[in-house]
Amino acid sequence: MSHRIAVIPGDGIGVEVIREATRLLTMLSERRSLGLDLWQLDLGAERFLRDGTTMPQAVFEEIRDTCSAILMGAVGDPRVPSNQHAIDILFGFRFGLELYANIRPVRCLADRLSPLKHFGEKDVDFVIFRENTEGLYVNVGGQVRRGTPDEIAINEDINTRKGVERIIRAAFEFAAERGLTRVHMADKSNAMRHAHELWLRVFREIAKEYPAIQAVHAYVDAMAMYMVQDPASIQVIVTCNLFGDILTDIGAALQGGLGMAGSASLHPGKRIGLFEPVHGSAPPLAGKDVANPFASFLTVGLMMSHLGHRELETLIEDCIRACVQAGECTHDVGGALGTRAASEAFLTRIAARLA
Ligand code: NAD
Ligand code: IPM
Ligand code: MN
Repeated sequence: MSHRIAVIPGDGIGVEVIREATRLLTMLSERRSLGLDLWQLDLGAERFLRDGTTMPQAVFEEIRDTCSAILMGAVGDPRVPSNQHAIDILFGFRFGLELYANIRPVRCLADRLSPLKHFGEKDVDFVIFRENTEGLYVNVGGQVRRGTPDEIAINEDINTRKGVERIIRAAFEFAAERGLTRVHMADKSNAMRHAHELWLRVFREIAKEYPAIQAVHAYVDAMAMYMVQDPASIQVIVTCNLFGDILTDIGAALQGGLGMAGSASLHPGKRIGLFEPVHGSAPPLAGKDVANPFASFLTVGLMMSHLGHRELETLIEDCIRACVQAGECTHDVGGALGTRAASEAFLTRIAARLA
């Protein structure tokens, strides 16, 4: 079985880390006969600035109809203040393919990566299910009397029964499949009494279908605190789009920083998935060979599980852990290597394990 993989390098450090992730994909494909057919796409800020193209409909449709996965680097470039290309490409996939489950593992791979005094590798291991197609990201709203003292700016928070139910169910299904015993749902139903009352009600309803799993409701402000204060008590968190964005950056910090956090956007049951590191294009780091490529490798790991090769995700994690422990890593995680050298060290380890 072969798989076509669309590769979009994105902007800034996205380009540098996706280049290395592509080397990993090629190696895995060759050594494990995965039949991966990588399709490099010229999309991102450079292309937009060159000819105004963001995401052509025909390309979107070809990706939708022929690919098993999209590997994508961060988009965002100071030369495009409107962020139009990023919105068209990133939300084009998340919304256009209805990839409603943004799955972001928070796993600290080595004790010395933990910023917490009392917690490390054995304590920080959970997964955040972020709703990925609704909420404040739908961008329903508008501006009135723009630029005047009376201006009004509105973004509506869109929460549908269907959307809330499917992400909460996905989180419980994931917990059930992995033999986990607890799911947290983080909302702000004490203040957002329409939208998040729906979240709380649906959470309680779905929880009844999973009696073996403890369903814990937390207000998102307290959830942010528990993540830092008591990470070992967390197994799965499900939350809305915006809160998920924020909590997953806190999660990244627990793993050693944004250079260590990968993500998958899926529609359970659908073939295609979108795979991106959690981090952005980090303009101040771009072109300096300092970006940590490990988040993009962890992202490839998530893709491998999606394609049915969970053992390769574990292998990738093992090799990253070994690199970090040996100091074969970039500055952000305590090493002295550049992007290319850290990647080389990792690829050498993984090549040995795949031999
Ligand atoms: P950022 O993730 O680019 O950077 C935040 C901090 O983390 C910076 O200090 C940066 O140096 C550090 N960092 C991030 N990735 C790193 C890596 N791989 N190695 C080492 N250090 C790393 O977030 P930001 O500065 O808020 O955003 C910059 C741009 O990226 C913006 O245009 C934003 O919209 C965009 N962005 C895009 C995505 C995406 O496309 N998936 C995600 C987040 C941000
Ligand atoms: C992320 C990013 C995006 C988001 C931005 C770039 C729109 O922060 O993937 O976490 O908020 O979803
Ligand atoms: Mn984010």
